[in-house]
Amino acid sequence: MSQAHTIAILPGDGIGPEVTAQAVRVIDALNERHSAAISYEQAPFGGAAYDLHGVPLPDTTLDLARRSDAILLGAIGGPKWESIERSLRPERGLLGIRSELNLFSNLRPAILYPELADASTLKPEIVSGLDIMIVRELTGGIYFGQPRAIEQTEQGERRGFNTLVYTEPEIRRIAHSAYTIAMQRDKRLCSVDKANVLESSELWREIVTDVGKAFPEVELSHMYIDNACMQLIRSPKQFDVLVTGNLFGDILSDAASMLTGSIGMLPSASLDENGKGMYEPVHGSAPDIAGKNMANPIATILSLAMLLRSSFERADLADIVESAVRSVLKSGMRTGDIAKPGEPTVSTSEMGDAILAAIPVATNSN
Ligand code: IPM
Ligand code: MG
Repeated sequence: MSQAHTIAILPGDGIGPEVTAQAVRVIDALNERHSAAISYEQAPFGGAAYDLHGVPLPDTTLDLARRSDAILLGAIGGPKWESIERSLRPERGLLGIRSELNLFSNLRPAILYPELADASTLKPEIVSGLDIMIVRELTGGIYFGQPRAIEQTEQGERRGFNTLVYTEPEIRRIAHSAYTIAMQRDKRLCSVDKANVLESSELWREIVTDVGKAFPEVELSHMYIDNACMQLIRSPKQFDVLVTGNLFGDILSDAASMLTGSIGMLPSASLDENGKGMYEPVHGSAPDIAGKNMANPIATILSLAMLLRSSFERADLADIVESAVRSVLKSGMRTGDIAKPGEPTVSTSEMGDAILAAIPVATNSN
């Protein structure tokens, strides 16, 4: 009998509730068909929590997240909350939970599924077989640096400013995380910075290099962020693992996701020092298609697979989920975001139905 695991489900805003609903069906199926013993509880987060409780990250939601073994998040934000006070916006809830739970290591894989090779805007020979991992520092850098403000100068002009700061321990732990991941892959790590201009990057480069002494098998390279953006589009398969700071990682990971043609396919994990994590699709809340049962639930379902593998150490269940997704893609089933022009499309819930149908029933129960 496997030990019970708990997941906090935070559906959030926009398409978040629709896509997480499909992941919940997958959990139910794993419980029924594979005695997975996963329990879950939902809580409001982001704009939905603001509407209910006046804050994007209510204490009860944070408590649930702390108590649970892992967190599965849909998406947050939307035009409805764009004009409210900055400190109450959905995005602040997301930054708040990352920081409160110390989820400093953000893993954003960009994998091209062979079935979707022609969904990319890049030539097939540039992207086929693409499999890169972006390791983004998530709780430091300019996103959190102090001081920050919009203020009035003595001359009566307004001035907006933020601070880009990285401490040595912050760089050390994300570097360690990235080398560890590189060791499990092709053992090539590219650190991305702007060391030709920024002091924080100069320290970043020095520390990443130093941490590498403990990982002699990993081949380390350094690249400036502007060049890395260019190389990612020019010849993305040169990369195995990329490690970078919060803001550069935000930008690079959106660019990388588009190489695969479909941001609707990509999962992500944000982990703390002990491997506890929050898992979420890389895509956002897509307000334009919210509530229309059109969104692709695959990124969220693959986020669940990542959760099962990394936080629950249930590679067996993760494999089941991932092969169900692959077989559905092989069968040609497509939501709008991954369909070729003119190709028939299915709804969010139909995609969920098909994935559920592809999850086998365990032959022997133990
Ligand atoms: C992401 C998003 C967030 C970020 C926003 C919604 C705060 O773009 O997860 O990449 O910038 O980190
Ligand atoms: Mg982003």
